[in-house]
Amino acid sequence: MSARRPAAVIVLAAGEGTRMKSRKSKVLHELCGRSMVGHVLAAARELRPERLIVVVGHRREQVIEHLAEHAPQAEPVVQERQGGTGHAVRTVLERVGTLTGTVVVTNGDHPLLRGETLAELVRTHEREGNATTVLTTEVPDPTGYGRILRGPDGAVTAIVEHKDADEAQRAVREINVGMYAFDGALLEAALKQVTTDNAGGEEYLTDVPAILRAQGHRVGAFTAPDWVETQGVNDRVQLAQARRLLNARLLEGHMRAGVTVVDPASTWVDVDVTAEPDVVIHPNTQLHGRTSLQEGAEVGPNVTLTDTSVGAGAVVTNAVAEGAEIGPEATVGPYAYLRPGTRLARKAKAGTYVEMKNAVVGEGSKVPHLTYVGDADIGEGSNIGASSVFVNYDGVAKHRSVVGDHVKIGSDNMLVAPVTIGDGAYTAAGSVIVNDVPPGAMAVARGRQRNIEGWVERKRPGTPAAQAARRATAQAEEEAVSGE
Ligand code: UD1
Ligand code: CA
Repeated sequence: MSARRPAAVIVLAAGEGTRMKSRKSKVLHELCGRSMVGHVLAAARELRPERLIVVVGHRREQVIEHLAEHAPQAEPVVQERQGGTGHAVRTVLERVGTLTGTVVVTNGDHPLLRGETLAELVRTHEREGNATTVLTTEVPDPTGYGRILRGPDGAVTAIVEHKDADEAQRAVREINVGMYAFDGALLEAALKQVTTDNAGGEEYLTDVPAILRAQGHRVGAFTAPDWVETQGVNDRVQLAQARRLLNARLLEGHMRAGVTVVDPASTWVDVDVTAEPDVVIHPNTQLHGRTSLQEGAEVGPNVTLTDTSVGAGAVVTNAVAEGAEIGPEATVGPYAYLRPGTRLARKAKAGTYVEMKNAVVGEGSKVPHLTYVGDADIGEGSNIGASSVFVNYDGVAKHRSVVGDHVKIGSDNMLVAPVTIGDGAYTAAGSVIVNDVPPGAMAVARGRQRNIEGWVERKRPGTPAAQAARRATAQAEEEAVSGE
């Protein structure tokens, strides 16, 4: 059964997050390519709420800017003074008016929570016809959390904050996760009765269930079976733990979908990474942004890809790429750096100590060794000799080079852009090519060789070089004599 669309999800993100010790808002710290609040919003969006509201306060400019860029459908509501979680929700309702129907409230610092768990909370809430339903879980160490108090019949009677709990209450291991479903109208009325009469001197949202129960309404709970996903993040140690857990979950999803991950412990993926069956990911690989790996592609070891697509059957080892398209059956590395705008066609190669930027390399063309290709179009079946440079920058502007099909650029060439090398042309090793080369021509652009006989004997007498030269000359003379 799918739940009806909630009237709103309210995300609480106004708190200070002191323990992060950061200039950046706590909820903007990232894991797996998305901010903490971004993860919460992604889970919230799965409920398809009519309104998605984010309460902002501390460092609100940062959060508002972030929302505008990454979650434009989210409506920020400013809470000027952080008077507690109850005060935060009251502020929202005073701003937007009565919300009729189910209202979900969630803390902004629980990045591991899955949309499915929120949906289960809402389904329980609506099936049982509750005034409020609290997401709970049992944890090994409940220190710091609000504890769930239940009556003899097992029904939730109240939530007591750690600071306000007595010893017996503190022994309870069932905690308030910080996510709730409410009836909007009843929530609004109950919040008016919340006081600041507690150890924190704040308006606690957690007082609402007891208030509603005292009024004779039904208060329910949905207990998350896996407490791991309910973990909050308050400092950078917990952030690292959450990142590892989320990464493991993402990798598990890929493995179950047919991807081989050789070493999950040293493989890191962002949430938007996609991989098709029979992809193999070797150790120490990081896949960021919208990187995609097509069927049978093999990446790693030691590969970092950002917003890069890797075609079917391509092989990428010991490489870094950003904003690149690697075609099917292409090979990259070991030790290659592909910068934005690089496009390798089918079976193309960017080999060892090769850097490319804004470069289009045609089908089957190879750039095997020690080469920089910047701002160039290379046709099909061409080969760029070792140690060549596409000289694209004149100190003021960048220029583009064009290399045709089946071209052979000799080793150690400088192709000074803008320049065009016609189809089927060759260039000699060591050439500095400044003029266009017509199709089928051989371009030679280097000084002629001149040998100055006996120079070492005259200029460097007595050196090991001179001695070696003398031995070689003597031996050649001897052979000439005996050969007569
Ligand atoms: C809260 C719950 C506690 C629960 C725990 C789970 C209350 C009173 N307590 O405690 O029962 O076990 O979460 O993590 O709700 N916030 C605002 N405005 C405010 C105060 C807080 O937006 O005025 C936001 C914070 O940014 C945060 C969330 O509300 O995202 C929770 O606030 P926090 O102070 O972290 O509450 P906890 O002490 O963790
Ligand atoms: Ca918290």
